[in-house]
Amino acid sequence: MSLIEKPEVIARALEVLKENDQGDYTIPTKGLYPFQWNWDSCLTALGQAFYDEDRAWREIETLFAHQWPDGMVPHIVFHVFNDGYFPGPGVWRTNRPVETSGITQPAVAGFAVRRLYERAKDKAKASARAKALLPKIDAWHRWFYDHRDPKREGLVAIIHPWESGRDNSIDWDEPFERVPTDGIDPYERRDTQHADPSERPTKAQYDRYLWLVQHFRSLNWDNAKLHDASPFQVVDPGFNGILVRACADIASLAETLGEHEIAEANRSRAEKGQKALETLWSEAHGQYLCRDRITGKLIDSASIGGLMPVFAKIPADHARKIAATIRRHMAATRFSVPSHDPSKPRFDQRRYWRGPVWLIVNFMLMDGLIAAGEPELAATIKDSSLKLIRESGFAEYYDPLTGDPLGGARFTWTAAMVIEFMEEY
Ligand code: DGY
Repeated sequence: MSLIEKPEVIARALEVLKENDQGDYTIPTKGLYPFQWNWDSCLTALGQAFYDEDRAWREIETLFAHQWPDGMVPHIVFHVFNDGYFPGPGVWRTNRPVETSGITQPAVAGFAVRRLYERAKDKAKASARAKALLPKIDAWHRWFYDHRDPKREGLVAIIHPWESGRDNSIDWDEPFERVPTDGIDPYERRDTQHADPSERPTKAQYDRYLWLVQHFRSLNWDNAKLHDASPFQVVDPGFNGILVRACADIASLAETLGEHEIAEANRSRAEKGQKALETLWSEAHGQYLCRDRITGKLIDSASIGGLMPVFAKIPADHARKIAATIRRHMAATRFSVPSHDPSKPRFDQRRYWRGPVWLIVNFMLMDGLIAAGEPELAATIKDSSLKLIRESGFAEYYDPLTGDPLGGARFTWTAAMVIEFMEEY
């Protein structure tokens, strides 16, 4: 994409952000996702920050206003009534003052807040807002290691695929076999009324998503019980890589702002997490793999989750091998980076997280690859991302072989990432 086109692309991206802006938070897209989603909001704030710093801070502050007393930050905040989404608050029944879901999502807030602070023109104002958020983000990080790492391994588990954000990844196929489907209440999906069912998770997967929700609900959403009571406990390298990066970023920001205790706690979480991540490395795959915490075994599934730790500081040798793996995937697809190894039989170019390209992942890979000394590969990922926008608009995700737009249209975080790609890199 030439420089001449930049103002036009940015203007189109801003239109998408504006359309989905609800004042204090942004919905991911109309119809399919009509509430505030956790990591969507934090990544959206990055794009907002270039044009309206105050609005960007508010996006994250609104999310943290709904943090649970135990430190958990929910994956959805149901600010308003809207029955176009399932499962809504009537299914979750978490009994919060403003209804929320009862599970969490990747911890990108720490990374986003550091970046907002560094980007801020008025440092005094930004420092006050960052200082108010720091203890909340610190409490969330503490919550992860207290409640999702009971044996203190330095690695947290997700207990529901929706927590990873990569809902129907091939990574979950085997552990999902343990999740029963008996006793789930009858339900009607709404996602397939807004998006093509062939691009969404299957009914068999939805049954299990709901069984888990009902199971956790029967335990009154008591986080002291949920991890051990879940038949689905998976240590996802992508999820842990993001958390490690967020801990390191919060440590650095807290140090700058004179919050030494927060800095120290997060530095030590990052160091321990970074070392523990290495136990997920697979030399044969040239990437990290998920571990099923119930069986203790690595899961043989070459998904993008195993490439995402490059977003954290990983050993140079592993970053190099991840770069080589990405190049191999690139050679087999027209657009980068597919969410699963395209040479594998379960790769599905159109079905959500089983093959399609996601710009938020491209962004994290790109940022990590630059830090790891792979700027050319990062530039190729950026070019491919912007080519997708030019050909197919601001979709939720894209077919890596044809570039077709998939899932929801006019998607907020895709637009925010385009702004980030063009303005920051
Ligand atoms: C959905 O409903 O598709 C979401 O990914 C759950 O967060």
